[in-house]
Amino acid sequence: MEEYFVKAQNNYLCNTSYPLNKENWSKYKIKKYDLFEDEKNLNFYIHIPFCRKLCAFCEYIKYPKTNIEIEEKYVNILEKDINKFIETHANIKLHGLDVGGGTPTALEIKPFTHLMQICKALIHKLELVEDFEPSIEGTFETIDDNKLKEIYNAGFKRISLGIQTMNLNILAKNNRQNLETKDLIQRCNLIKKHGIKKINIDFMYGLEGQTLKDLDDAIALVKKMNVEQITLYEMRYNLISKQKKIDREFLFEQYEYIYNKLIDLGYYARFGQNTFSKDEKDLGLSSYLRSRMIDNISYKGFGISAQSKSKIGMSYNIGKSRKSINECMKYNSFIEEDLYLLPKEELLAKYIAISMYFGEFKISIMKEILGEEPLDYYKNEFQFLLKNDYILINQDKIILTKKGFKYYGAIGALFYSKNVKTYLLGCEN
Ligand SMILES: C[S@@+](CC[C@H](N)C(=O)[O-])C[C@H]1O[C@@H](n2cnc3c(N)ncnc32)[C@H](O)[C@@H]1O
Ligand code: SF4
Repeated sequence: MEEYFVKAQNNYLCNTSYPLNKENWSKYKIKKYDLFEDEKNLNFYIHIPFCRKLCAFCEYIKYPKTNIEIEEKYVNILEKDINKFIETHANIKLHGLDVGGGTPTALEIKPFTHLMQICKALIHKLELVEDFEPSIEGTFETIDDNKLKEIYNAGFKRISLGIQTMNLNILAKNNRQNLETKDLIQRCNLIKKHGIKKINIDFMYGLEGQTLKDLDDAIALVKKMNVEQITLYEMRYNLISKQKKIDREFLFEQYEYIYNKLIDLGYYARFGQNTFSKDEKDLGLSSYLRSRMIDNISYKGFGISAQSKSKIGMSYNIGKSRKSINECMKYNSFIEEDLYLLPKEELLAKYIAISMYFGEFKISIMKEILGEEPLDYYKNEFQFLLKNDYILINQDKIILTKKGFKYYGAIGALFYSKNVKTYLLGCEN
């Protein structure tokens, strides 16, 4: 186990992604199946893949904006897919709704308004959980009065905007530009003026060329903006490069540095969590992310490349293999291109990998997935983790310690299925 742990520690694929390779699941692939036939408790995710410019570091499926007709067609297909799903699945109880991308706010105002009407209709039509908190992603330069008005009217109370870094060299190398500080602050005020209560800002660490001084600049900006929530993303290379080396010491140093500064500024987060919140009772997550990561609530994704996960399997919509946008739209539906019925070991591994964003997972959920006592089922793994002080167990929760957080990817890798473990052992690194 020691050897496997070191192997996983040094492999750039071991983070919050799972499986490591599409081929890992080829034997579970099926043609057609309704993964959500028996499910009532759901999250919805809507993917908008358009951006003004494409950042080189970005792992997500996105396309450069071209013309409004494509955007209109895209939103029309989304509407059809969403309506079809709701018509064929009765009594849905919605836990969360996230609109992400790409950059949803980069849409032209007409398709954007249409998208907001679709979301508003969903929010009004479906039964919602009490702490339902829908959220939308965007960038500062693509929001304005008109779009903010639509966002508020549709029912969104949280908006998540990316900055990543303020280092002009790193931004330029990655084909990205941010607004100047005074304009960023002005737009935060505009968001508040429109009644949107929570602003989350994304920052990244571990970017090539990034230093602690850059993190200081990010912190100085956070201080001026005084937003409710901050999310820290560790740079991932899974889908964008064949990078072989990762430096966990360097990543840990950057996380620890920015963690301490954010706590000093009055944000709350357990060490190892990637979300920070001004409100101690708020985990800094939309209800989609909260219920998906912590409570393993199933999610249905709409749009190009969106993934869905139910209690029995997963699917990925057309586009994951980076087809052209026209190719993806030719069926007039964002069809499920890859569909997998999964055994419990795979479902468990996926749950743990997702929860590594948050640095904790629940014994009761592991038990629900496995149908067996997890502390027995993974006896050796838990012994190893406890012996090395990588985790602590607090009632139902398994929480990564500070030492454990440094190796969160390798900890997740202990719970990979046999199949995926074998694949990892065969990787070069
Ligand atoms: C789907 S992106 C959308 C955000 C928005 N379009 C923007 O650029 O601000 C959500 C977040 O993922 C993070 N992200 C993008 N590429 C990443 C990568 N390769 N590794 C880790 N995080 C990444 C960024 O922090 C980004 O804000
Ligand atoms: S980081 Fe945001 S703006 Fe940049 S390419 Fe990714 S989704 Fe688009």
